[in-house]
Amino acid sequence: MIVIGSSNTDMVVKAPHLPAPGETVLGEDLIVAHGGKGANQAVAAARLDAPVALVACLGDDALGRDALTHYRAEGINVEQVQIRTGLPSGVALIVVDPAGENQITVAPGANARLLPADLSSASSLFQAHGVTLLQLEIPLETVLEAAQMGHRAGHIVILNPAPAPACPLPAGLLAAVDIITPNETEATRLTGETTPIAAGWALRAEGVDTVIITLGEAGALLLTGEAETHIPGFVVDAVDATAAGDAFNGALAAALERGESLPEAIRYAHAAAALTVTGMGAQPSLPAAREVATFLERQEGTNPSQE
Ligand code: RIB
Repeated sequence: MIVIGSSNTDMVVKAPHLPAPGETVLGEDLIVAHGGKGANQAVAAARLDAPVALVACLGDDALGRDALTHYRAEGINVEQVQIRTGLPSGVALIVVDPAGENQITVAPGANARLLPADLSSASSLFQAHGVTLLQLEIPLETVLEAAQMGHRAGHIVILNPAPAPACPLPAGLLAAVDIITPNETEATRLTGETTPIAAGWALRAEGVDTVIITLGEAGALLLTGEAETHIPGFVVDAVDATAAGDAFNGALAAALERGESLPEAIRYAHAAAALTVTGMGAQPSLPAAREVATFLERQEGTNPSQE
């Protein structure tokens, strides 16, 4: 699969509570970890044995060079990961509370300079893969161009619309997307609807073939054709929710690329996301294929959560 998106270095602090406006909170020691929604999804899929090419923009700094070395070590094709002279790498400031909830602010740096023209040199990659996986931490015009390139190449094009966009999606984007995977907040932001089901049908009405609304440990709502199905999730002891959505999307894409059905792929993605929230940090907590397989084996015979 091709993942076109952001790469960040995450600066993570665990704190007794998330700070209120104007408040200073004393937390634990700083954790520095590889992150960014695009890179997280690429690493998630690569650890699940999918062949992955990442298209991303790093800064010309120690963080960018370290990230490039790391993506190579994860077995990701980095021929289209560019280092941009004179720009800083993306950085995310993350606070995590004892319940595992987080607050994230991103300084995009070089991610904001991944432009549509940069994708022309990536066109041969589209011939070698079957899935395009996108998020919204890079310029929207680049997401549009990537979706249209994936669509023309006959890919399954998956859009994880995170973070929730502050402005409407560009015209033509949803027409090039096969599967959209918002969480409840993003679904509301995209459609103005206040329930996941209404938001899901509104997205279907805009022309997206398959809508998957993620509901945290309650699972996900799958809308495709005329049918709506609830796929239960898994309840685990959460330490840090960071990158749960990224694990879900990377695993979903990996499972679909190897031919699993949508319900099977969603269950697999739930397992990857559940394992991710049991560890601190984004990429440090993304599971390997063996861990997901063991987790699913252990779930056999136990009751998954019901919404
Ligand atoms: O989805 C989690 C990610 O969001 C973090 O890794 C952080 O970099 C931000 O992009």
